[in-house]
Amino acid sequence: MRHRASNFACSIFIVLLTACSKSYTPPAEAGGEQIFQEACAECHKAENKDAPGMIFNLSHKTANLAYITERVHNGSLLMPRFPAITDTKMQALSDYILKHSLIQ
Ligand code: HEC
Repeated sequence: MRHRASNFACSIFIVLLTACSKSYTPPAEAGGEQIFQEACAECHKAENKDAPGMIFNLSHKTANLAYITERVHNGSLLMPRFPAITDTKMQALSDYILKHSLIQ
């Protein structure tokens, strides 16, 4: 019940033009794939129509740790922020994403 209420508050917040913050913290032993499955896969599926099994379509400008970290930490209108994914966890998540993205 509490969870639902906070999701609802989150939706309202998104409507109000600011990215929501997710309190998700990766477990100590988690690698990139696990973090992705737990925090990201609900929205980002490996359904890239240009490249089956790939998740994102990135360019040479966006296929790097700095861009992915910025997206994860700041979110957007439609994507929550994940400020607790940092350091080696952020690196592992970024490596996983880069391995599963079409880069062109
Ligand atoms: C609630 C749904 C949702 C969740 C959860 C979510 N995202 Fe997103 N994400 C989006 C949407 C929608 C976009 C594209 C539109 C935009 O930029 O707002 C996006 C865009 C991105 C982009 C930019 C892709 C590009 O083509 O430039 C990256 C990278 C990204 N997300 C990574 C992640 C990662 C990593 C996680 C997990 C830590 C995550 N997202 C969790 C909804 C989500």
